[in-house]
Amino acid sequence: MISRILAIGLAVLAGAAAATAAGAAVPVSDAAHGTRSYDDYEKPQACATCHDDLFQQWKQSMMSQAYTHHWDEIEYFELAVPHAERDEKVAGVKAGCNGCHAPTAFLAGDTPPPRPEAGSRANESVHCDHCHTVTGFEGDVPFNFNWITDPGRRKQGPKPGVTSPHHDTVENPFLRTGDFCGTCHNEMSPYGVWVKSTHLEWKDGPYYAQGVQCQDCHMPRAEGVSARMGQPGPVAQHLFHGAHDHGKLNGAIELRMNPLERELELDDTAVIKVQLFNGKCGHKVPSGSVEDRLLWLEVTATDSAGRAWRLPVDRKGFEGEEYTIAADVLAYQDMGDARGLEGFAGVQRDGIASGNRIFRMPYFDPQGRMTMQQWNTASLGVDYRIGPRETKVETFTWELPAEVAPGRVTFRAVLNYQLLMAPVAEYLKVPAEEAAPHVINVAETWVEVY
Ligand code: HEC
Ligand code: HEC
Ligand code: HEC
Ligand code: HEC
Ligand code: HEC
Repeated sequence: MISRILAIGLAVLAGAAAATAAGAAVPVSDAAHGTRSYDDYEKPQACATCHDDLFQQWKQSMMSQAYTHHWDEIEYFELAVPHAERDEKVAGVKAGCNGCHAPTAFLAGDTPPPRPEAGSRANESVHCDHCHTVTGFEGDVPFNFNWITDPGRRKQGPKPGVTSPHHDTVENPFLRTGDFCGTCHNEMSPYGVWVKSTHLEWKDGPYYAQGVQCQDCHMPRAEGVSARMGQPGPVAQHLFHGAHDHGKLNGAIELRMNPLERELELDDTAVIKVQLFNGKCGHKVPSGSVEDRLLWLEVTATDSAGRAWRLPVDRKGFEGEEYTIAADVLAYQDMGDARGLEGFAGVQRDGIASGNRIFRMPYFDPQGRMTMQQWNTASLGVDYRIGPRETKVETFTWELPAEVAPGRVTFRAVLNYQLLMAPVAEYLKVPAEEAAPHVINVAETWVEVY
C-alpha cells in the first residue's frame, strides 16, 4: 500500500477568524457552525419567479438534492451520525457533512437537521442564495467549506453593471473561478487525508493551465437572458451535470483496441491492447466521491461458433495493483464500527466479475482496511484513475483455448461506470439505480484464426 497522507494545513481550520473583503472578522469552516439563522437566506422559490429557467435547471441537478437524495440521507443518518457519536476522532462530521450538503442548515446550527421527509429548510441543499452570497474563501487552498458568506440584499454575480428590482448585485470575479467550486469539491478527512480533490486534480492538470474553469464544462454559457426583464447576453447555464447524468458520462473516456498480430494459428496466443483516453474531463475519472465509484473494463472474446470467453487483464506489477483488479474479497468492515456491530465481516469489495481492471484509488481506515467512509480515511492506496488528457493502455494476453473454432474471433471491450459498488448498495438498501452499471464506451477488434 502506498501511503499518501497529505497532512496539509489543518491549522487553517483551527483559525476561527477570517478577514472578509470588507475587513470584518467572520468565522469560517467548522467555526461558522451556528453563527447564522435560516432567515438570513432567501428561499430558492423567491428567486424562481424571475430566474425561472435557471431555477428549473438547478432543480434538476444534484445541487438541489445534496441533502435530500436518498443515498446521501442513508450515508449521513445511518453511518456518519452514529459514527460521530461513537468515535471522538470523527465527531466533527455530524455537523461538517452539511457544511457542503446543506450549508444553511450548518450555518444555522441545525445539527443533525430533520430527515428530508420532514420538509425542513435543510432540504434546500446547495441553493441559490447560498452561492450568490459567497464573497470569497479563507486561506490559500479552497476545501472543507471554507467559503465566506455575507447574506443579505446584495447578491454576488459574475457580471458588472447588472440591475434587478429584487436585489442589489455586485460583480465578483471569484464566482467565475474553479476556486469557488473547490470550497466544496476538495475535502480533507479528520485524519488529514485528501478524500475529495476534484479541484486539486484540475489545478494540477492541463485545463487549469489553459484557463479552462469548472464553469466552462459544468455551467456552459449560451445566448439568452438570466432573468425575466434581464439583458440578453451569454448566460451561465446552471446544469451542474456530472456523474448522475448519462450524457455527461457517455464517452468521457474514449476506447480503442487492437491485436498485436491479426492472423493466428490454433495453438497461438492472442495479445490485445486497449487504449483508454480521457479527452473530455477536466479532472481524473472517477473524481469526487472516489470511495464509492467503480469504473471498470471488461474484455470478451467470441469465436466464429459463437462461444464466448471473458479475458482477465494482464498484471503490470505496480505496488497496490491488487486493488485495481476485481476480486471476490471482503472489505468495508468499518461500516460495523460506525453502526456499533461487533466483529462485522464486511461485504464483497467490488461485486463484479473477477479479473476485470478497475480504475480507482482505494481508501483505507485507521486499521488499514479498505473503506467507503471517506471521513474515516487515514491513508490512500495507489492512484490508478485516468487523469485529464491521460491515456492508459491495458493488455490482455490470451492463449487460444483448445475448443476455439477456426475463423474470426471478435474481441469486445466495455467500459462500465457505477456510482456505488453493488454489495454496499445492497447492504445499506440504497435504491438500485445508484448501483446500476452504465456503459461509458465500447470498442471492438478481431483476429483471424487458421
Ligand atoms: C423580481 C425579479 C427578481 C427576483 C425575485 C430575483 N432576481 Fe436576481 N436578477 C433579476 C434581474 C432582472 C437581474 C438582471 C439580469 C440581467 O440583466 O442580466 C438579476 C440578476 C441577478 C444576479 C446577477 C447576475 C450577474 O449577471 O452578475 C444574481 C447573482 C441574481 N440575480 C441572484 C438572485 C437570487 C439568488 C435571487 C433569489 C434570492 C434572485 N436573484 C431573485 C431579477 C430578480
Ligand atoms: C453551486 C453554486 C450556485 C448555485 C446553487 C446557484 N448558482 Fe447562480 N451562479 C453560480 C456561478 C458560479 C455563476 C457564475 C458562472 C460564470 O459566469 O462563470 C452563477 C451565475 C448566475 C447568474 C448570472 C448568469 C449569467 O451568466 O448571466 C444568475 C442570474 C444566477 N446565477 C442565479 C441563480 C439562481 C436564481 C439560482 C437558484 C435557482 C442559482 N443561481 C444557483 C453559482 C451558483
Ligand atoms: C456549497 C458547496 C458546493 C459548491 C460551492 C459547489 N458544489 Fe458542486 N456539489 C456539492 C455537493 C454537496 C454535491 C453532491 C450532490 C449529491 O450528489 O449529493 C455536488 C455535486 C456536483 C456535481 C456532480 C453532479 C452529478 O450529477 O453527479 C457537479 C458536476 C458539481 N457539483 C459541480 C460544481 C461546480 C462546477 C461548482 C462551481 C461553479 C460547484 N459544484 C460548487 C456542493 C457544492
Ligand atoms: C474539460 C471539461 C471539465 C472541466 C474543466 C471540469 N469537469 Fe467535472 N466533469 C467533466 C466530465 C466530462 C465529467 C463526467 C465524467 C465523470 O463523472 O468523471 C465530470 C464529472 C464531474 C463530477 C462527478 C465526478 C464523479 O466521478 O463522481 C464532479 C463532482 C465534477 N465534474 C466537478 C468539477 C469541478 C469542481 C471542476 C473544477 C475544479 C470540474 N469538474 C472541471 C468535465 C469537466
Ligand atoms: C468539503 C465538502 C463536503 C463534505 C464536508 C462532505 N461532502 Fe459529501 N459530497 C461533496 C461533493 C462535492 C460530492 C459530489 C462528488 C461527486 O459527485 O463525485 C459529495 C458526494 C457525496 C455522496 C455521494 C452522492 C451520490 O449521489 O453519489 C454522499 C453519500 C455524501 N457526499 C455524503 C457525505 C457525508 C455523509 C458527509 C460527512 C461525513 C459528507 N458527504 C461530507 C462534498 C462534501
